[in-house]
Amino acid sequence: MTSAAALTPAGNTPLAFPIPANVYAEKVVWVKHYTDRLFAFRITRPQTLRFRSGEFVMIGLPNAEKPVFRAYSIASPNWDEELEFFSIKVPDGPLTSHLQKIQPGDTVLMRQKATGTLVLDALTPAKRLIMISTGTGIAPFASLLRDPDTYEKFEEVILTHTCRDIAELTFGKELVGALADDPLIGELTHGRVRLYNSTTRETSERMGRITALIGSGQFQSDLDIEKLSPETDRVMICGSMAMLKDVKELVEHAGFEEGSLSQPASFVVERAFVG
Ligand code: A2P
Repeated sequence: MTSAAALTPAGNTPLAFPIPANVYAEKVVWVKHYTDRLFAFRITRPQTLRFRSGEFVMIGLPNAEKPVFRAYSIASPNWDEELEFFSIKVPDGPLTSHLQKIQPGDTVLMRQKATGTLVLDALTPAKRLIMISTGTGIAPFASLLRDPDTYEKFEEVILTHTCRDIAELTFGKELVGALADDPLIGELTHGRVRLYNSTTRETSERMGRITALIGSGQFQSDLDIEKLSPETDRVMICGSMAMLKDVKELVEHAGFEEGSLSQPASFVVERAFVG
């Protein structure tokens, strides 16, 4: 076996454990803590990594002979020189209890394959794309919202983000707020993206689970749109298991059909990483 030091990226202190086969060792370049439960980080991007916006990779730390890997949606678009991720912090989570302590310059491991179902090619064309997220489930949509292909395919995009409290909505507000000033896609996104957020545990301007807001018709009246329909809309869903199940039922009831790369249709679903 090759020594750990030989496989360590130039400039890094040697790692305590060898890097497993088919794994990239990348450097942390930026970390931002949003709340005591949520943080985002960026790492260098290996030149050979190819991915579709919306896909996920397996992330780990070089802190064990057999590192724990967890699925993380890439939050940056596929043209970006770095890779961005948005993570929960689970106090006793096997990965996130350590990952939440990373600093610029540290090494993060990443398996070499990106995959996932929240990709534009799994949906047939339509007028409007509705991205439904809770918590860190917003991450793949942060990638897709910054991808010009999203605006090639859809006239209009609505991003919903529901969290327990107001501070947890910050990532999404900053993301959508920054679109207008983005040199590459700013003009393309102008007047075409709407953020629809709500809280469920802290009092805010809009409260309630997205399932309740859609179910009661408030979502449609707030945004001045018609009832969700497979004629005009495509839906992407990302969040906790319980949320996926309920939103899936809701859209299936409205006549939507689940799509895949081999058989594109009107909605797609992916579980957000927890643990
Ligand atoms: P709630 O506070 O009512 O549980 P979490 O941080 O636990 O992942 O939750 C993120 C958001 O997802 C919370 O606002 C939570 O609401 C909401 N949520 C949880 N379960 C569901 C569900 N089955 N359908 C819709 N939203 C849900």
